[in-house]
Amino acid sequence: MTTLGTPLSPHATKVMLLGSGELGKEVLIALQRLGVETIAVDRYENAPGQQVAHHARTIVMSDPAQLKALIEAETPHLVVPEIEAIATGMLEELEAAGTVRVIPTARAARLTMDREGIRRLAGETLGLPTSPYVFADSLEELQAAIDSKIGYPCVVKPVMSSSGKGQSKLDGPADVKPAWDHAMAGGRVARGRVIVEGFIDFDYEITLLTVRALGANGEVETHFCEPIGHVQVSGDYVESWQPHAMHPAALKRAQEIAKTVTDDLGTAPANGSVGLGLFGVELFVKGEQVWFSEVSPRPHDTGMVTMITQWQNEFELHARAILGLPVNTALKSPGASAVIYGGVDAQGIVFEGVDEALRVPNSDVRLFGKPESFVKRRVGVALVFDADVQQARQQAKVAASKVKPRVA
Ligand SMILES: Nc1ncnc2c1ncn2[C@@H]1O[C@H](COP(=O)(O)OP(=O)(O)OP(=O)(O)O)[C@@H](O)[C@H]1O
Ligand SMILES: [Mg+2]
Repeated sequence: MTTLGTPLSPHATKVMLLGSGELGKEVLIALQRLGVETIAVDRYENAPGQQVAHHARTIVMSDPAQLKALIEAETPHLVVPEIEAIATGMLEELEAAGTVRVIPTARAARLTMDREGIRRLAGETLGLPTSPYVFADSLEELQAAIDSKIGYPCVVKPVMSSSGKGQSKLDGPADVKPAWDHAMAGGRVARGRVIVEGFIDFDYEITLLTVRALGANGEVETHFCEPIGHVQVSGDYVESWQPHAMHPAALKRAQEIAKTVTDDLGTAPANGSVGLGLFGVELFVKGEQVWFSEVSPRPHDTGMVTMITQWQNEFELHARAILGLPVNTALKSPGASAVIYGGVDAQGIVFEGVDEALRVPNSDVRLFGKPESFVKRRVGVALVFDADVQQARQQAKVAASKVKPRVA
């Protein structure tokens, strides 16, 4: 049985979010609704999630000493990573010492912060189907990997990057040097290592939101949301919809792959406890064939569509699952999301046309409240539900286009 406390009292249930962007903000709101005391951590002040939490803290989360000092000072019951760039080795130490529980586990946070950890787990340890891949530490190694094993077309990515940063598609030898240089400029930390993957000519790609939550008898149950289809431009998500129609055999295979990888990431070897929470499993599909691409052990950006399509959106599912509460992944209505970009480089921008966006039938809008806008920074999302998912996609794009960020 789960017991929850009263926030700001000696018996508060305290949860710390490491990373407080738009996804963390919604997890924090879901936790607030259950009377959880929340601590929002980010690398800059007034991050979206910090605006809705009881406590806001600003530190360098990749610095082990700063991370340890903050966790020891705040004594949260749960630490919930929202981003990848965290000192995960320190989280493993603190978890092993019994200081804190990390969601889903510190090991999962470590393995997924870097493409190599998760790809070797999925492709080699678990034997899941993936694109062919090789890791390379220099331009020469990259060229050799392509010539001997991968061929063209292929995709080069820094091992530490997200949202498509530093990623290129290569169609021939002339693309290799520019791809290497682009990867070196776009990686998260100065570490010259890339993955080169064979290009998968998929029919479509999905995110399969997968939830590990406790059942009535205290055992872990795996729940799947309806598949989410999405479009990526330069490795960054621009629109998503749910459900994405799938051949039943492909859906079954996708669920098997998602269960295998989340069962593994949900196992905490140190103390035998279980890893709970929501995962975003990214899969490529061609006919009945399914490839594992990657997984986030946390809500996924393409899953923002669930704010309008599910009774419990992905953030509420994550909040409930990590607290040991039951979940319901049922669809409420088909629907779609479309990203709103900043369009300008400026602080404290204003938004025109939110009224017009909300006049689109069955629409909703989220503005994240980011203090600073960049041309390609995601600053909001438009949501539309409709019995016809294609109609929802089109209308979500219309709604997003009505919102016009501009310099104040
Ligand atoms: N091997 C591949 N074959 C075909 N397309 C690929 C391949 N790898 C990546 N892509 C395309 O690029 C997108 C981004 O790739 P990936 O998910 O690996 O990068 P990312 O930087 O982690 O992105 P995000 O953080 O947004 O999930 C994929 O969703 C897919 O559309
Ligand atoms: Mg991805």
